[in-house]
Amino acid sequence: MKNLVILISGSGTNLQRIIDCIDSGEIRNAKVNLVIADRECFGLERATKHNIPNLLIKRGKDFYDNLEKAIPGNTDLIVLAGFLSILKPEFCEKWSGKIINIHPALLPKFGGKGMWGHHVHEAVIESGEKESGATVHFVTSGIDEGEIILQGKFDVEENDSAETLAQKVHQIEYDIFPKAIDLILNK
Ligand code: GAR
Repeated sequence: MKNLVILISGSGTNLQRIIDCIDSGEIRNAKVNLVIADRECFGLERATKHNIPNLLIKRGKDFYDNLEKAIPGNTDLIVLAGFLSILKPEFCEKWSGKIINIHPALLPKFGGKGMWGHHVHEAVIESGEKESGATVHFVTSGIDEGEIILQGKFDVEENDSAETLAQKVHQIEYDIFPKAIDLILNK
């Protein structure tokens, strides 16, 4: 059984999807040992509802030390599922090859500092892109620069807004994120 730690900052619908896919067997041989949030968020309630140990480690002084200490040594994969803090390079190096992230765009486009959530969708609309999607990638010290594991995409329609893109991207994420996790854990 592989041990997962999931890091979140928000509603946690991707966290929910991962939990559901472990229950259904779509993600094989996995257990979520711990959910960590960097702010108060609904995702923590989802973890509690499923009896998954969870922690709130607020940003600010000692954040990185506390995060470091909280990750169990037997962790096989750290999954960033809508986690909005930037991890320190030392942390990324220590867990190299064992941290993955979901990004709400087709990397390498629309990645980097400040590119998260609605900012990404607004930038996609403004630039007149013909397609968007989501990317699962390994996390390295370069923001959104690690090796791509899986991508899924769709056509941007003329009447799309940042809100409709967010919904469409989430649907893609629910498809590719569990597949990528299963792929990595069971390769
Ligand atoms: C997801 O769309 C994810 O790609 C994005 O936050 C959302 C979290 O949704 N992550 C980033 O923007 C990171 N740069 P959720 O809380 O419902 O899973």
